[in-house]
Amino acid sequence: MLSWQRTAFHFQPQTNWMNDPNGPLFYSGWYHIFYQYNPDSAVWGNITWGHAVSRDMIHWLYLPIALVPDTWHDINGVWSGSATLLPDGKIVMLYTGNTAQNVQVQNLAYPANLSDPLLLDWVKYADNPVLVPPPGIGPKDFRDPTTAWIGPDEKWRVTIGSKVNKTGLSLVYRTKDFIHYELSDHYLHAVPGTGMWECVDFFPVSVNGPNGLDSSVNGPEVKHVLKASLDDTKVDHYAIGTYFVENDTWVPDNPHEDVGIGLKLDYGRYYASKTFYDQQKQRRVLWGWINESDSETADLKKGWASLQTIPRTVLFDKKTRTNLLQWPVEEVDSLRLSNFEFEEVVVKPGSVVPLDIGPATQLDIFAEFEIEFLASKGIGKGNVGCGSGAVDRSALGPFGILAIADDQLSELTPIYFHLSSITSDASLTTSFCVDETRSSMAPDVSKLVFESKVPVLSDEKLSMRVLVDHSIIESFAQGGRTVISSRVYPTEAIYGAARLFLFNNATDINIKASLKIWQLNSAFIRPFPFD
Ligand code: FRU
Repeated sequence: MLSWQRTAFHFQPQTNWMNDPNGPLFYSGWYHIFYQYNPDSAVWGNITWGHAVSRDMIHWLYLPIALVPDTWHDINGVWSGSATLLPDGKIVMLYTGNTAQNVQVQNLAYPANLSDPLLLDWVKYADNPVLVPPPGIGPKDFRDPTTAWIGPDEKWRVTIGSKVNKTGLSLVYRTKDFIHYELSDHYLHAVPGTGMWECVDFFPVSVNGPNGLDSSVNGPEVKHVLKASLDDTKVDHYAIGTYFVENDTWVPDNPHEDVGIGLKLDYGRYYASKTFYDQQKQRRVLWGWINESDSETADLKKGWASLQTIPRTVLFDKKTRTNLLQWPVEEVDSLRLSNFEFEEVVVKPGSVVPLDIGPATQLDIFAEFEIEFLASKGIGKGNVGCGSGAVDRSALGPFGILAIADDQLSELTPIYFHLSSITSDASLTTSFCVDETRSSMAPDVSKLVFESKVPVLSDEKLSMRVLVDHSIIESFAQGGRTVISSRVYPTEAIYGAARLFLFNNATDINIKASLKIWQLNSAFIRPFPFD
Protein backbone atom coordinates (compact mmCIF):
# COMPACT_ATOMS: atom_id res chain seq x y z
CA MET A 1 0.00 0.00 0.00
CA LEU A 2 1.35 3.41 -0.95
CA SER A 3 -0.11 4.71 2.27
CA TRP A 4 1.54 8.14 2.26
CA GLN A 5 -0.60 9.11 -0.74
CA ARG A 6 -3.76 8.69 1.31
CA THR A 7 -5.10 11.99 2.48
CA ALA A 8 -5.64 12.96 6.11
CA PHE A 9 -8.52 15.42 5.99
CA HIS A 10 -10.16 14.90 2.61
CA PHE A 11 -13.14 12.59 2.27
CA GLN A 12 -12.40 9.31 0.54
CA PRO A 13 -13.81 5.79 0.96
CA GLN A 14 -11.83 3.29 3.00
CA THR A 15 -11.14 1.29 -0.13
CA ASN A 16 -12.01 1.10 -3.82
CA TRP A 17 -13.31 3.53 -6.40
CA MET A 18 -15.31 6.74 -5.94
CA ASN A 19 -16.44 9.37 -8.44
CA ASP A 20 -19.18 12.02 -8.31
CA PRO A 21 -20.60 13.46 -5.08
CA ASN A 22 -24.36 12.75 -4.97
CA GLY A 23 -27.36 14.05 -3.04
CA PRO A 24 -25.57 16.16 -0.42
CA LEU A 25 -27.92 17.45 2.29
CA PHE A 26 -28.16 18.49 5.93
CA TYR A 27 -30.81 16.58 7.86
CA SER A 28 -31.55 16.24 11.54
CA GLY A 29 -28.13 17.36 12.73
CA TRP A 30 -26.08 15.43 10.17
CA TYR A 31 -24.44 16.32 6.88
CA HIS A 32 -24.93 13.48 4.42
CA ILE A 33 -22.76 12.78 1.44
CA PHE A 34 -23.49 10.03 -1.07
CA TYR A 35 -21.05 9.17 -3.81
CA GLN A 36 -20.62 7.06 -6.92
CA TYR A 37 -18.91 4.01 -5.49
CA ASN A 38 -17.61 0.70 -6.80
CA PRO A 39 -17.56 -1.62 -3.75
CA ASP A 40 -15.53 -4.25 -5.63
CA SER A 41 -12.56 -2.50 -7.18
CA ALA A 42 -10.40 0.62 -7.40
CA VAL A 43 -11.55 1.28 -10.98
CA TRP A 44 -14.97 2.51 -12.18
CA GLY A 45 -17.76 -0.08 -12.49
CA ASN A 46 -20.73 -1.69 -10.70
CA ILE A 47 -21.74 1.74 -9.48
CA THR A 48 -23.67 2.05 -6.20
CA TRP A 49 -24.29 4.97 -3.84
CA GLY A 50 -21.78 5.04 -1.00
CA HIS A 51 -22.95 6.99 2.04
CA ALA A 52 -21.30 8.83 4.94
CA VAL A 53 -22.40 11.32 7.60
CA SER A 54 -20.67 14.11 9.47
CA ARG A 55 -21.46 16.76 12.07
CA ASP A 56 -19.12 19.30 10.46
CA MET A 57 -18.19 18.08 6.95
CA ILE A 58 -14.64 17.38 8.22
CA HIS A 59 -14.90 14.25 10.40
CA TRP A 60 -16.88 11.49 8.65
CA LEU A 61 -18.51 8.20 9.53
CA TYR A 62 -18.98 5.64 6.77
CA LEU A 63 -22.43 4.08 6.57
CA PRO A 64 -23.66 1.04 4.64
CA ILE A 65 -24.20 1.53 0.91
CA ALA A 66 -27.45 3.44 0.37
CA LEU A 67 -28.51 2.34 -3.12
CA VAL A 68 -27.40 -0.68 -5.16
CA PRO A 69 -28.26 -1.74 -8.71
CA ASP A 70 -31.00 -4.35 -8.18
CA THR A 71 -33.86 -3.62 -10.56
CA TRP A 72 -34.10 -3.43 -14.36
CA HIS A 73 -34.18 0.38 -14.25
CA ASP A 74 -30.76 0.70 -12.59
CA ILE A 75 -29.20 -2.75 -12.95
CA ASN A 76 -26.27 -1.32 -14.94
CA GLY A 77 -25.56 1.40 -12.42
CA VAL A 78 -27.10 3.67 -9.81
CA TRP A 79 -25.73 6.87 -11.31
CA SER A 80 -25.61 10.46 -10.16
CA GLY A 81 -28.47 12.42 -8.67
CA SER A 82 -29.56 15.02 -6.16
CA ALA A 83 -31.64 15.47 -3.03
CA THR A 84 -34.54 17.85 -2.52
CA LEU A 85 -35.82 18.74 0.95
CA LEU A 86 -39.57 19.37 0.76
CA PRO A 87 -41.26 22.00 2.95
CA ASP A 88 -43.07 19.25 4.88
CA GLY A 89 -39.74 17.73 5.93
CA LYS A 90 -39.76 14.86 3.43
CA ILE A 91 -36.75 14.06 1.28
CA VAL A 92 -36.87 13.23 -2.41
CA MET A 93 -33.88 11.68 -4.13
CA LEU A 94 -33.78 11.63 -7.93
CA TYR A 95 -31.02 9.64 -9.61
CA THR A 96 -30.13 8.28 -13.00
CA GLY A 97 -30.46 4.55 -13.54
CA ASN A 98 -28.62 2.81 -16.33
CA THR A 99 -31.13 0.15 -17.38
CA ALA A 100 -30.67 -3.43 -18.51
CA GLN A 101 -30.66 -2.05 -22.10
CA ASN A 102 -28.22 0.73 -21.17
CA VAL A 103 -30.87 3.42 -21.42
CA GLN A 104 -30.50 6.36 -19.03
CA VAL A 105 -33.70 6.92 -17.03
CA GLN A 106 -34.53 8.95 -13.93
CA ASN A 107 -35.61 7.14 -10.78
CA LEU A 108 -37.13 8.25 -7.51
CA ALA A 109 -36.03 7.09 -4.06
CA TYR A 110 -36.85 8.24 -0.57
CA PRO A 111 -35.77 7.44 2.99
CA ALA A 112 -37.61 4.49 4.53
CA ASN A 113 -37.67 6.14 7.92
CA LEU A 114 -37.53 9.91 8.35
CA SER A 115 -37.12 9.55 12.10
CA ASP A 116 -33.70 7.98 11.50
CA PRO A 117 -31.26 10.91 11.33
CA LEU A 118 -28.71 8.66 9.60
CA LEU A 119 -31.15 7.91 6.75
CA LEU A 120 -29.78 4.39 6.56
CA ASP A 121 -32.53 2.74 4.50
CA TRP A 122 -33.72 3.92 1.13
CA VAL A 123 -36.81 2.82 -0.77
CA LYS A 124 -37.00 2.95 -4.53
CA TYR A 125 -40.37 4.06 -5.86
CA ALA A 126 -42.23 0.98 -7.13
CA ASP A 127 -43.11 2.44 -10.52
CA ASN A 128 -39.66 3.64 -11.47
CA PRO A 129 -38.51 5.01 -13.82
CA VAL A 130 -40.30 8.33 -13.49
CA LEU A 131 -38.63 9.74 -16.62
CA VAL A 132 -37.30 8.19 -19.82
CA PRO A 133 -35.40 10.01 -22.59
CA PRO A 134 -37.88 12.24 -24.47
CA PRO A 135 -38.17 12.19 -28.31
CA GLY A 136 -35.05 13.59 -29.94
CA ILE A 137 -32.78 12.78 -26.98
CA GLY A 138 -30.41 9.81 -27.24
CA PRO A 139 -30.83 6.93 -24.76
CA LYS A 140 -27.30 7.57 -23.47
CA ASP A 141 -27.63 11.36 -23.24
CA PHE A 142 -30.05 11.86 -20.38
CA ARG A 143 -28.58 11.95 -16.91
CA ASP A 144 -27.86 13.50 -13.52
CA PRO A 145 -31.04 15.26 -12.28
CA THR A 146 -30.51 18.38 -10.13
CA THR A 147 -32.03 19.38 -6.83
CA ALA A 148 -35.56 20.63 -7.54
CA TRP A 149 -36.73 24.22 -7.03
CA ILE A 150 -40.32 25.41 -6.77
CA GLY A 151 -41.93 28.18 -8.84
CA PRO A 152 -44.80 30.57 -8.02
CA ASP A 153 -47.19 28.08 -9.72
CA GLU A 154 -46.37 25.57 -6.93
CA LYS A 155 -44.70 23.26 -9.42
CA TRP A 156 -41.24 21.87 -8.81
CA ARG A 157 -38.62 22.10 -11.53
CA VAL A 158 -35.75 19.71 -12.20
CA THR A 159 -33.14 20.13 -14.89
CA ILE A 160 -31.30 17.25 -16.58
CA GLY A 161 -28.18 17.44 -18.76
CA SER A 162 -28.15 16.23 -22.35
CA LYS A 163 -26.99 17.08 -25.86
CA VAL A 164 -28.33 17.26 -29.39
CA ASN A 165 -25.56 16.68 -31.92
CA LYS A 166 -22.70 18.71 -30.42
CA THR A 167 -24.90 21.18 -28.56
CA GLY A 168 -24.80 20.71 -24.79
CA LEU A 169 -28.09 21.53 -23.09
CA SER A 170 -30.26 21.15 -20.05
CA LEU A 171 -33.90 19.95 -20.20
CA VAL A 172 -36.44 21.25 -17.67
CA TYR A 173 -39.27 19.16 -16.21
CA ARG A 174 -42.11 20.45 -14.02
CA THR A 175 -43.83 18.28 -11.44
CA LYS A 176 -46.11 18.50 -8.44
CA ASP A 177 -45.45 15.08 -6.97
CA PHE A 178 -42.07 13.93 -8.39
CA ILE A 179 -43.95 11.07 -10.09
CA HIS A 180 -45.67 12.81 -13.02
CA TYR A 181 -43.67 15.30 -15.05
CA GLU A 182 -44.20 17.69 -17.95
CA LEU A 183 -41.31 18.60 -20.21
CA SER A 184 -40.83 22.33 -20.76
CA ASP A 185 -40.99 23.59 -24.37
CA HIS A 186 -37.70 25.38 -23.77
CA TYR A 187 -34.30 24.22 -22.74
CA LEU A 188 -33.06 25.89 -19.57
CA HIS A 189 -30.06 26.70 -21.74
CA ALA A 190 -28.01 25.27 -24.61
CA VAL A 191 -24.52 26.06 -25.92
CA PRO A 192 -23.41 24.84 -29.37
CA GLY A 193 -20.12 22.95 -29.52
CA THR A 194 -19.94 22.05 -25.83
CA GLY A 195 -21.06 18.40 -26.17
CA MET A 196 -22.80 16.33 -23.50
CA TRP A 197 -23.57 18.17 -20.23
CA GLU A 198 -23.18 15.91 -17.21
CA CYS A 199 -23.97 16.77 -13.59
CA VAL A 200 -25.72 20.06 -14.32
CA ASP A 201 -26.03 22.27 -11.25
CA PHE A 202 -28.34 25.28 -11.07
CA PHE A 203 -28.58 27.60 -8.08
CA PRO A 204 -29.31 31.17 -7.00
CA VAL A 205 -26.73 33.52 -5.49
CA SER A 206 -27.40 36.73 -3.61
CA VAL A 207 -25.84 39.76 -5.34
CA ASN A 208 -25.74 41.90 -2.19
CA GLY A 209 -26.44 39.66 0.81
CA PRO A 210 -23.89 37.75 2.88
CA ASN A 211 -25.53 34.30 2.77
CA GLY A 212 -26.14 31.43 0.42
CA LEU A 213 -29.66 30.86 -0.89
CA ASP A 214 -32.08 27.97 -0.92
CA SER A 215 -32.52 26.59 -4.45
CA SER A 216 -36.06 28.02 -4.80
CA VAL A 217 -35.15 31.66 -4.03
CA ASN A 218 -35.54 34.16 -6.88
CA GLY A 219 -35.99 37.93 -7.17
CA PRO A 220 -34.31 41.18 -8.12
CA GLU A 221 -31.31 40.73 -5.80
CA VAL A 222 -30.64 37.26 -7.13
CA LYS A 223 -28.59 35.87 -9.98
CA HIS A 224 -28.50 32.24 -11.04
CA VAL A 225 -25.45 30.10 -11.66
CA LEU A 226 -25.57 27.37 -14.28
CA LYS A 227 -22.82 24.75 -14.14
CA ALA A 228 -22.22 21.86 -16.52
CA SER A 229 -19.58 19.16 -16.41
CA LEU A 230 -18.41 18.79 -20.00
CA ASP A 231 -18.12 15.12 -20.87
CA ASP A 232 -15.87 15.85 -23.88
CA THR A 233 -13.20 17.73 -21.92
CA LYS A 234 -13.93 16.64 -18.32
CA VAL A 235 -14.07 20.24 -17.13
CA ASP A 236 -16.66 21.90 -14.84
CA HIS A 237 -17.72 25.19 -16.40
CA TYR A 238 -20.10 27.77 -14.98
CA ALA A 239 -21.63 31.09 -15.87
CA ILE A 240 -23.65 33.67 -13.96
CA GLY A 241 -26.92 34.93 -15.39
CA THR A 242 -30.65 35.50 -15.00
CA TYR A 243 -33.36 32.87 -14.61
CA PHE A 244 -36.82 33.50 -16.06
CA VAL A 245 -39.32 31.37 -14.20
CA GLU A 246 -42.13 32.23 -16.70
CA ASN A 247 -40.66 29.92 -19.30
CA ASP A 248 -37.86 28.24 -17.34
CA THR A 249 -34.99 29.69 -19.30
CA TRP A 250 -31.68 31.15 -18.21
CA VAL A 251 -29.56 33.79 -19.97
CA PRO A 252 -25.89 34.45 -19.19
CA ASP A 253 -24.82 37.96 -18.16
CA ASN A 254 -21.99 37.79 -20.66
CA PRO A 255 -22.63 35.65 -23.76
CA HIS A 256 -18.86 35.55 -24.42
CA GLU A 257 -18.42 33.78 -21.08
CA ASP A 258 -21.29 31.33 -21.53
CA VAL A 259 -21.36 27.85 -19.94
CA GLY A 260 -18.58 25.73 -21.39
CA ILE A 261 -16.69 28.55 -23.09
CA GLY A 262 -15.88 30.80 -20.13
CA LEU A 263 -15.19 30.36 -16.45
CA LYS A 264 -14.21 27.08 -14.83
CA LEU A 265 -15.10 26.18 -11.25
CA ASP A 266 -11.61 24.79 -10.81
CA TYR A 267 -8.71 25.06 -13.26
CA GLY A 268 -7.02 21.87 -12.06
CA ARG A 269 -8.17 18.27 -11.67
CA TYR A 270 -11.82 18.48 -10.78
CA TYR A 271 -15.13 17.19 -12.11
CA ALA A 272 -18.82 16.39 -11.57
CA SER A 273 -19.29 18.95 -8.80
CA LYS A 274 -22.55 19.65 -7.01
CA THR A 275 -23.78 22.26 -4.52
CA PHE A 276 -26.40 22.07 -1.79
CA TYR A 277 -27.99 24.64 0.47
CA ASP A 278 -26.99 24.16 4.11
CA GLN A 279 -30.04 25.46 5.97
CA GLN A 280 -28.21 25.17 9.29
CA LYS A 281 -25.61 27.79 8.41
CA GLN A 282 -27.41 29.51 5.52
CA ARG A 283 -24.66 28.83 3.06
CA ARG A 284 -24.31 27.14 -0.29
CA VAL A 285 -21.68 24.43 -0.21
CA LEU A 286 -19.89 22.95 -3.21
CA TRP A 287 -18.55 19.40 -3.44
CA GLY A 288 -16.28 18.21 -6.27
CA TRP A 289 -14.63 14.97 -7.31
CA ILE A 290 -10.83 14.81 -7.71
CA ASN A 291 -9.60 11.86 -9.72
CA GLU A 292 -6.20 10.19 -9.60
CA SER A 293 -3.51 11.08 -12.10
CA ASP A 294 -1.43 7.97 -11.54
CA SER A 295 -2.06 4.79 -13.54
CA GLU A 296 -4.93 2.35 -13.15
CA THR A 297 -2.35 -0.29 -12.20
CA ALA A 298 -1.14 1.96 -9.39
CA ASP A 299 -4.73 2.52 -8.22
CA LEU A 300 -5.38 -1.22 -8.12
CA LYS A 301 -2.16 -1.70 -6.20
CA LYS A 302 -2.99 0.97 -3.63
CA GLY A 303 -6.59 -0.28 -3.47
CA TRP A 304 -8.37 3.05 -3.75
CA ALA A 305 -8.96 5.88 -6.18
CA SER A 306 -10.28 9.43 -5.93
CA LEU A 307 -11.24 11.87 -3.24
CA GLN A 308 -13.65 14.74 -2.72
CA THR A 309 -12.44 18.32 -2.33
CA ILE A 310 -12.78 20.10 0.96
CA PRO A 311 -16.36 21.36 0.83
CA ARG A 312 -16.33 25.01 -0.28
CA THR A 313 -18.75 27.81 0.48
CA VAL A 314 -19.84 29.57 -2.68
CA LEU A 315 -20.76 33.25 -2.90
CA PHE A 316 -21.19 35.84 -5.64
CA ASP A 317 -18.10 38.09 -5.83
CA LYS A 318 -19.55 41.49 -4.94
CA LYS A 319 -16.37 43.30 -5.96
CA THR A 320 -15.87 42.02 -9.50
CA ARG A 321 -19.53 41.04 -10.04
CA THR A 322 -18.38 38.62 -12.74
CA ASN A 323 -17.43 35.45 -10.87
CA LEU A 324 -18.05 33.29 -7.82
CA LEU A 325 -15.90 33.09 -4.72
CA GLN A 326 -15.09 29.63 -3.37
CA TRP A 327 -13.61 29.17 0.08
CA PRO A 328 -13.00 26.11 2.28
CA VAL A 329 -15.85 25.74 4.80
CA GLU A 330 -14.97 27.43 8.10
CA GLU A 331 -14.97 24.05 9.88
CA VAL A 332 -11.54 23.36 8.34
CA ASP A 333 -10.15 25.84 10.87
CA SER A 334 -10.94 23.35 13.64
CA LEU A 335 -8.09 21.17 12.36
CA ARG A 336 -5.48 23.88 12.93
CA LEU A 337 -2.58 22.98 15.22
CA SER A 338 0.62 25.01 15.48
CA ASN A 339 0.76 28.37 13.80
CA PHE A 340 3.75 29.99 12.04
CA GLU A 341 3.98 33.58 10.88
CA PHE A 342 6.44 35.14 8.47
CA GLU A 343 6.48 38.89 7.84
CA GLU A 344 7.78 40.47 4.65
CA VAL A 345 10.27 37.79 3.71
CA VAL A 346 12.31 39.15 0.81
CA VAL A 347 12.80 36.69 -2.03
CA LYS A 348 15.38 37.90 -4.57
CA PRO A 349 15.31 37.08 -8.28
CA GLY A 350 16.29 33.47 -8.93
CA SER A 351 16.19 32.39 -5.30
CA VAL A 352 14.46 29.90 -3.05
CA VAL A 353 13.82 30.54 0.67
CA PRO A 354 12.98 27.64 3.02
CA LEU A 355 10.16 28.19 5.51
CA ASP A 356 11.02 26.47 8.74
CA ILE A 357 7.74 24.91 9.83
CA GLY A 358 8.66 21.24 10.30
CA PRO A 359 6.91 18.56 8.25
CA ALA A 360 4.78 20.03 5.50
CA THR A 361 2.27 17.37 4.44
CA GLN A 362 -0.87 18.72 6.19
CA LEU A 363 -1.03 22.50 5.92
CA ASP A 364 -3.29 25.50 5.66
CA ILE A 365 -1.25 28.34 4.11
CA PHE A 366 -2.17 32.01 3.60
CA ALA A 367 0.37 33.97 1.60
CA GLU A 368 0.42 37.59 0.46
CA PHE A 369 2.92 38.95 -2.01
CA GLU A 370 4.16 42.46 -2.63
CA ILE A 371 6.35 43.43 -5.54
CA GLU A 372 9.46 45.59 -5.29
CA PHE A 373 11.06 46.84 -8.49
CA LEU A 374 14.82 46.60 -8.69
CA ALA A 375 16.34 50.04 -9.16
CA SER A 376 18.68 48.79 -11.87
CA LYS A 377 15.83 47.54 -14.06
CA GLY A 378 13.01 49.35 -15.78
CA ILE A 379 9.41 48.17 -15.53
CA GLY A 380 9.73 45.17 -17.79
CA LYS A 381 7.16 42.91 -19.32
CA GLY A 382 6.35 39.48 -18.03
CA ASN A 383 5.20 36.46 -19.95
CA VAL A 384 1.55 35.92 -20.65
CA GLY A 385 0.12 32.80 -19.02
CA CYS A 386 1.81 30.03 -17.06
CA GLY A 387 4.14 28.94 -19.85
CA SER A 388 5.87 25.60 -19.54
CA GLY A 389 5.94 25.85 -15.75
CA ALA A 390 7.75 27.52 -12.87
CA VAL A 391 11.19 27.10 -14.50
CA ASP A 392 10.31 29.82 -17.02
CA ARG A 393 11.75 33.25 -16.27
CA SER A 394 10.53 36.68 -17.24
CA ALA A 395 10.68 40.20 -15.80
CA LEU A 396 7.56 39.73 -13.64
CA GLY A 397 7.35 36.10 -12.69
CA PRO A 398 6.86 33.39 -11.76
CA PHE A 399 6.91 33.65 -7.94
CA GLY A 400 5.09 31.87 -5.16
CA ILE A 401 5.54 28.78 -3.00
CA LEU A 402 6.95 25.29 -3.49
CA ALA A 403 4.78 22.73 -1.70
CA ILE A 404 5.48 19.06 -0.99
CA ALA A 405 9.15 19.59 -1.79
CA ASP A 406 12.13 17.67 -0.44
CA ASP A 407 15.30 19.38 0.81
CA GLN A 408 17.16 18.60 -2.42
CA LEU A 409 14.27 20.03 -4.48
CA SER A 410 14.14 16.82 -6.46
CA GLU A 411 10.37 16.83 -6.01
CA LEU A 412 8.30 20.01 -5.67
CA THR A 413 5.03 21.58 -6.74
CA PRO A 414 5.12 25.33 -7.44
CA ILE A 415 1.93 27.32 -6.85
CA TYR A 416 2.53 30.77 -8.30
CA PHE A 417 1.58 34.03 -9.87
CA HIS A 418 2.98 35.30 -13.15
CA LEU A 419 2.24 38.86 -14.19
CA SER A 420 2.42 39.84 -17.82
CA SER A 421 2.35 43.55 -17.16
CA ILE A 422 2.20 45.87 -14.20
CA THR A 423 0.90 48.93 -16.00
CA SER A 424 -2.27 47.69 -17.64
CA ASP A 425 -5.38 46.25 -15.97
CA ALA A 426 -4.13 43.71 -13.41
CA SER A 427 -7.40 41.83 -13.69
CA LEU A 428 -6.43 40.79 -17.20
CA THR A 429 -2.77 40.24 -16.70
CA THR A 430 -2.32 38.07 -13.62
CA SER A 431 -1.94 34.36 -14.17
CA PHE A 432 -2.37 31.92 -11.30
CA CYS A 433 -0.72 28.57 -11.89
CA VAL A 434 0.15 25.19 -10.43
CA ASP A 435 3.01 23.23 -12.01
CA GLU A 436 2.88 19.48 -11.40
CA THR A 437 5.72 18.64 -13.79
CA ARG A 438 8.33 18.06 -11.05
CA SER A 439 5.90 16.85 -8.39
CA SER A 440 6.84 13.18 -8.54
CA MET A 441 9.60 10.85 -9.60
CA ALA A 442 7.16 7.93 -9.73
CA PRO A 443 6.57 6.41 -13.17
CA ASP A 444 3.22 6.67 -15.01
CA VAL A 445 1.97 9.83 -13.35
CA SER A 446 0.35 12.37 -15.64
CA LYS A 447 1.70 15.83 -14.77
CA LEU A 448 0.39 19.12 -16.07
CA VAL A 449 0.83 22.87 -15.73
CA PHE A 450 -2.56 24.27 -14.70
CA GLU A 451 -3.22 27.76 -15.92
CA SER A 452 -5.77 30.43 -15.02
CA LYS A 453 -6.25 34.17 -15.03
CA VAL A 454 -7.35 35.82 -11.81
CA PRO A 455 -8.94 39.25 -11.37
CA VAL A 456 -6.83 41.49 -9.09
CA LEU A 457 -8.36 44.85 -8.16
CA SER A 458 -6.20 47.97 -7.80
CA ASP A 459 -6.41 48.08 -3.99
CA GLU A 460 -5.59 44.38 -3.53
CA LYS A 461 -2.39 42.53 -2.74
CA LEU A 462 -1.72 39.26 -4.50
CA SER A 463 -2.86 36.49 -2.19
CA MET A 464 -3.33 32.76 -2.11
CA ARG A 465 -4.61 30.16 0.30
CA VAL A 466 -3.30 26.64 -0.16
CA LEU A 467 -4.49 23.44 1.51
CA VAL A 468 -1.87 20.69 1.39
CA ASP A 469 -2.88 17.12 2.23
CA HIS A 470 -0.25 14.49 1.25
CA SER A 471 -1.30 13.89 -2.37
CA ILE A 472 -3.62 16.82 -3.02
CA ILE A 473 -3.02 20.55 -3.15
CA GLU A 474 -6.07 22.85 -3.34
CA SER A 475 -5.10 26.44 -4.15
CA PHE A 476 -7.37 29.50 -3.93
CA ALA A 477 -6.25 32.84 -5.41
CA GLN A 478 -7.58 36.30 -4.45
CA GLY A 479 -10.07 35.10 -1.84
CA GLY A 480 -11.33 32.23 -4.01
CA ARG A 481 -11.95 33.91 -7.37
CA THR A 482 -9.86 31.23 -9.00
CA VAL A 483 -9.19 27.73 -7.72
CA ILE A 484 -6.76 25.03 -8.85
CA SER A 485 -6.78 21.49 -7.43
CA SER A 486 -3.90 19.20 -8.22
CA ARG A 487 -2.76 15.70 -7.31
CA VAL A 488 0.86 14.91 -6.53
CA TYR A 489 2.57 11.58 -5.89
CA PRO A 490 5.84 12.32 -4.12
CA THR A 491 8.33 9.54 -3.52
CA GLU A 492 10.91 11.59 -1.56
CA ALA A 493 8.90 14.52 -0.18
CA ILE A 494 6.78 12.36 2.13
CA TYR A 495 5.99 12.50 5.84
CA GLY A 496 8.79 14.28 7.74
CA ALA A 497 10.78 14.85 4.54
CA ALA A 498 8.18 17.17 3.01
CA ARG A 499 9.11 20.87 3.16
CA LEU A 500 7.76 24.26 2.13
CA PHE A 501 9.69 27.01 0.30
CA LEU A 502 9.17 30.43 -1.23
CA PHE A 503 10.57 31.02 -4.71
CA ASN A 504 11.01 33.89 -7.10
CA ASN A 505 12.02 33.18 -10.67
CA ALA A 506 11.31 36.70 -11.92
CA THR A 507 14.33 38.67 -13.13
CA ASP A 508 13.30 42.28 -12.43
CA ILE A 509 11.49 42.21 -9.08
CA ASN A 510 11.99 41.26 -5.47
CA ILE A 511 9.07 39.61 -3.77
CA LYS A 512 8.06 40.42 -0.23
CA ALA A 513 6.02 37.55 1.14
CA SER A 514 3.98 37.51 4.36
CA LEU A 515 2.54 34.19 5.44
CA LYS A 516 0.42 32.55 8.08
CA ILE A 517 0.74 28.79 8.12
CA TRP A 518 -0.96 26.16 10.23
CA GLN A 519 -0.13 22.50 10.56
CA LEU A 520 -3.45 20.69 10.23
CA ASN A 521 -4.60 17.75 12.27
CA SER A 522 -5.96 14.61 10.62
CA ALA A 523 -9.73 14.23 10.45
CA PHE A 524 -11.45 11.18 11.92
CA ILE A 525 -12.87 9.30 8.96
CA ARG A 526 -13.96 5.82 9.96
CA PRO A 527 -16.91 3.38 9.95
CA PHE A 528 -19.93 4.35 12.01
CA PRO A 529 -19.66 2.64 15.43
CA PHE A 530 -22.83 0.53 15.27
CA ASP A 531 -23.11 -1.82 18.22
C1 FRU B 1 -19.93 11.93 -14.28
C2 FRU B 1 -20.77 10.70 -14.58
C3 FRU B 1 -22.25 11.01 -14.57
C4 FRU B 1 -22.86 9.67 -14.29
C5 FRU B 1 -21.85 9.06 -13.34
C6 FRU B 1 -21.67 7.58 -13.50
O1 FRU B 1 -18.66 11.61 -13.79
O2 FRU B 1 -20.37 10.14 -15.83
O3 FRU B 1 -22.70 11.61 -15.75
O4 FRU B 1 -24.12 9.79 -13.72
O5 FRU B 1 -20.62 9.71 -13.57
O6 FRU B 1 -20.79 7.07 -12.52
